[in-house]
Amino acid sequence: MNINWNYPTAMRTGEGRTAEIADICREFDLSAPLLVTDPGLAQLPMVSNIIDLCNAQGLGIKLFSDIKPNPTGANVSSGIESYLKGRHDGIIALGGGSGLDAGKAIAVAAKQDCSLWDLEDIGDDWLNADPRKIPPIIAVPTTAGTGSEVGRASVIVNEEQERKAIIFHPKMLPDCVILDPELTVGLPAALTAATGMDALSHNLEAFCSPLYHPMAEGIAIEGIRLIKDNLPQAVADGSNIEARRQMLVASSMGATAFQRGLGGMHALAHPLGAIYDAHHGTLNAILMPYVLLANRDVIEKPIARLAGYLDLPANFDGFLDWILKLRQEVDIPHDLAAIGIDDKRLEDLGEMAVADPSSATNPIQHDSTAYTRIVTKALNGDLS
Ligand SMILES: [Fe+2]
Repeated sequence: MNINWNYPTAMRTGEGRTAEIADICREFDLSAPLLVTDPGLAQLPMVSNIIDLCNAQGLGIKLFSDIKPNPTGANVSSGIESYLKGRHDGIIALGGGSGLDAGKAIAVAAKQDCSLWDLEDIGDDWLNADPRKIPPIIAVPTTAGTGSEVGRASVIVNEEQERKAIIFHPKMLPDCVILDPELTVGLPAALTAATGMDALSHNLEAFCSPLYHPMAEGIAIEGIRLIKDNLPQAVADGSNIEARRQMLVASSMGATAFQRGLGGMHALAHPLGAIYDAHHGTLNAILMPYVLLANRDVIEKPIARLAGYLDLPANFDGFLDWILKLRQEVDIPHDLAAIGIDDKRLEDLGEMAVADPSSATNPIQHDSTAYTRIVTKALNGDLS
């Protein structure tokens, strides 16, 4: 089943559609795309296949894969150097979060007079970029989680300041996305589970956000249903193409929906990831029930409505029980201690969560003491 969509951008979904990559380049008038991916994926046949397909149609494609799992400013600078040296005219960004984010960042900054850091997501700083100088971006996700293929931002590490910076421009939204489930079948079960739970947290936090955005809310509800019906299958049998397809779509839906904002899971997962270098998706998955419980007073009604749609007992507890069961089914630990988090930074974490932009759209404006309480409960597996 091959279907094309144009919301929020042009999307080609279906098995094997990566084969259309050279045609897509032509459609966007690209004659020399730079393929940006991570060093692990660069070794795989999916990358050599894309290069062969483009070469066969006379496109001057080159590969750039010198990027870290958390892409840095230096990675983006050397990507820009390759882009300019090779006289490239567009970007194919392929990968999980790192390949996609690095590719989008190279595209936005390559031809600008300002630096990458002048395009940080602060106020109207994106106006520093000349949009006419941003080349077309084609995004090809190989995991179902971040949804960066439909996002207008990249997370890039500012090494000098030892922090993750969000680079933003509306034209960083890729011009064309290929959702090809064949590219995700090789993803190991544990990563399928962790990235899939990240996609769930995006849809769920967007659903719980207090901002007025019924479109995003509608997308989030269906995204959660797709994950409910497909994540266990994708984890149990990685070659289940139908489950892989639906998870890719649900991941794109999560990132589309979180234009409505994220919440406490991400507000805590960001500092936990920075301090303990733990997997982002696993952190969100562990934190999920504890954050839901901390928000219970104000989300009880919408969660009951959501539970009804999901064919669960139509109340908060019915939904919470499903989350706990799903986590068990896909082998997510119940507490943060199980992944090596200790109790040394609990107070700092509370303060960092309040300072994280994601906390602004949590349904309750918890203070740092409340966030410390949530992370302490998550550390100890305390659902009281
Ligand atoms: Fe996330």
